[in-house]
Amino acid sequence: SAPVVVAIDGPSGSGKSTVSRAVAARLGLSFLDTGAMYRAMTWWMLTNDVDVEDADAVAIACGKPVIVSGTDAAGPTITVDGQDVSGPIRGPEVTSKVSAVAAVPQVRARLVELQRGCAEVAERGIVAEGRDMGTVVFPAATLKVFLTASQAARAERRAAELRAKGVDEATIAAMAADLTRRDAADSSRETDPLTQAPDAVLVDTSDLTLEQVIDRIVGLVQERT
Ligand code: C5P
Repeated sequence: SAPVVVAIDGPSGSGKSTVSRAVAARLGLSFLDTGAMYRAMTWWMLTNDVDVEDADAVAIACGKPVIVSGTDAAGPTITVDGQDVSGPIRGPEVTSKVSAVAAVPQVRARLVELQRGCAEVAERGIVAEGRDMGTVVFPAATLKVFLTASQAARAERRAAELRAKGVDEATIAAMAADLTRRDAADSSRETDPLTQAPDAVLVDTSDLTLEQVIDRIVGLVQERT
């Protein structure tokens, strides 16, 4: 039978990453964080002084970095030209610029190809999370999930995470504004915007616990395999 592909899309703060990793671990599947690939590309552009607001410059440069994404649900890593960038890609510089880089069609074409390659070599199957997994990258996925949560629930979760790390309230407010801006950019861009695939199952996580969301998705996969 064809390998299992679970495609999980949704906006930032929907709980996508945590849920996707947990589902992969529970089912013994590989895991692919495609946002990390767009972040790694952005990190390389910033490190090499490419003007990320200049789409032509980004399009020309995007073939250069060698991006390798690990697919272990227990601890995914990502390297650019052999350097582990798992830490730096979560920083505020990359986070504020990634949507501009991800809007460039040549960047998407290159990373989509890499993403499909990761799925092909995943022996037991893969859980892939991002913005266009169900709509573009894996149109024939075993299961497509569109994960959402109310704006308030997403902002509150993100704030709680940051507070737990000791981040001050002013920074938390700034990051909430940045998250809103990024979601608007991701949903309105011309190439492969964030949208729910017609055949995706909508899961609203606003009033569910993490365990409930994971159980729901694991159950849906089991129904189909
Ligand atoms: O999921 P994460 O917040 O790490 O994604 C970072 C950014 O990468 C998103 O805001 C979006 O601009 C871009 N992205 C994308 N397509 C994907 C995954 C992420 O455009 N499949």
